[in-house]
Amino acid sequence: MSNARPRALLVTGAAGFIGANFMHYWARAHPADTLVAYDALTYAGNLASLESLRGRDNVHFIHADICDGDRVLATLREHCVDTIVHFAAESHVDRSISGSDAFIQTNIVGTHSLLQAAREAWLGADATVAQHRFHHVSTDEVYGSLSADAPGFHERQQYQPNSPYSASKAASDHLVRAWLHTYGLQVTISNCSNNYGPYHFPEKLIPLCITNILRGLPLPVYGDGSNIRDWLYVEDHCRGIELVLQAGEVGQAYNIGGNNEWSNLDIVHLLCDELDKRFAADADLVRRFPAAPGAAGTSARELVTFVQDRAGHDWRYAIDAGKISAELGYTPRESFASGLQRTVDWFLDNQAWWQPLL
Ligand SMILES: NC(=O)c1ccc[n+]([C@@H]2O[C@H](COP(=O)([O-])OP(=O)(O)OC[C@H]3O[C@@H](n4cnc5c(N)ncnc54)[C@H](O)[C@@H]3O)[C@@H](O)[C@H]2O)c1
Repeated sequence: MSNARPRALLVTGAAGFIGANFMHYWARAHPADTLVAYDALTYAGNLASLESLRGRDNVHFIHADICDGDRVLATLREHCVDTIVHFAAESHVDRSISGSDAFIQTNIVGTHSLLQAAREAWLGADATVAQHRFHHVSTDEVYGSLSADAPGFHERQQYQPNSPYSASKAASDHLVRAWLHTYGLQVTISNCSNNYGPYHFPEKLIPLCITNILRGLPLPVYGDGSNIRDWLYVEDHCRGIELVLQAGEVGQAYNIGGNNEWSNLDIVHLLCDELDKRFAADADLVRRFPAAPGAAGTSARELVTFVQDRAGHDWRYAIDAGKISAELGYTPRESFASGLQRTVDWFLDNQAWWQPLL
């Protein structure tokens, strides 16, 4: 059964980075649809990211935990939800290394609780929704690490997660798949590479660098900075999920990527150079961010500080997005240059959003 026309979506983790971007994307692209934002508001959740959607009749916010199956079930029924887009997760690898409990709880137990509630709402005796879809948002990190010349991850790649975070995401992917094969829940999965863009919590590399440069603080780079990631502008991820919801085949996983590999150190240098350029051209920035190196006419590259490598740090991720491209016509729209410009613009224009998080 396909679900080409979602009408009422429950978006878990909607106050987080990608969830919030997805809420804005969907509200723009499908203004008549009902959106139910469901979020526990952990340190990573921020209602300010959804501020401009507040007050709309067809956008609702539920402050609750996905582990609370009764609350999920009641929400699905109350809003006649036909589609779940499941972003909610503990998502920061460093935090999973220093404390894995919350990762097991939310990413595995929480996904299980969500699957059970969806099964009850959509396949149980009192089911009222004719068509449904459970879309699970996962990561390329479940596939493990690549050598320099290995081809990108494809969907039939063996799972080899190396961190507590990626292992918990891998476990959740397996649960989602099992709920299709065992119970007939109509599921799809997407595994995406590193996202960047607006509303990105400033503990992750790109927003951390931008906000640290603006405050004149060190830019910590793990090891020698040679680790490679594929980067995708967050709106392109949202478009990929939209395509999977509209035309993806139930039971299938789709890799989403930007064909855009960069080493961590090169990314940090790009951001330093971009902000140096902005400060040289804009006296108002000098006034607003006097601690930034650019304000004193020096380079932000001087802030780069190499720190001890992360334990078990995967060396390279790359995505083969051939399947979503061939089957669903997906291509990213944003170039890395334009995506970074938009991201830097957003952080410069939205200090009131990020300042309280630091
Ligand atoms: N950020 C990336 O680059 C990236 C790449 C690929 C896949 N993903 C996946 O996309 C999803 C979203 O990532 P993100 O970067 O937006 O994460 P995030 O950490 O910014 O946001 C996670 C959100 O989930 C909420 N949440 C956490 N535990 C919850 C619980 N028990 N119940 C309800 N809500 C809870 C948080 O409050 C927060 O709003 C995750 O599943 C992640 O694995 C992220």
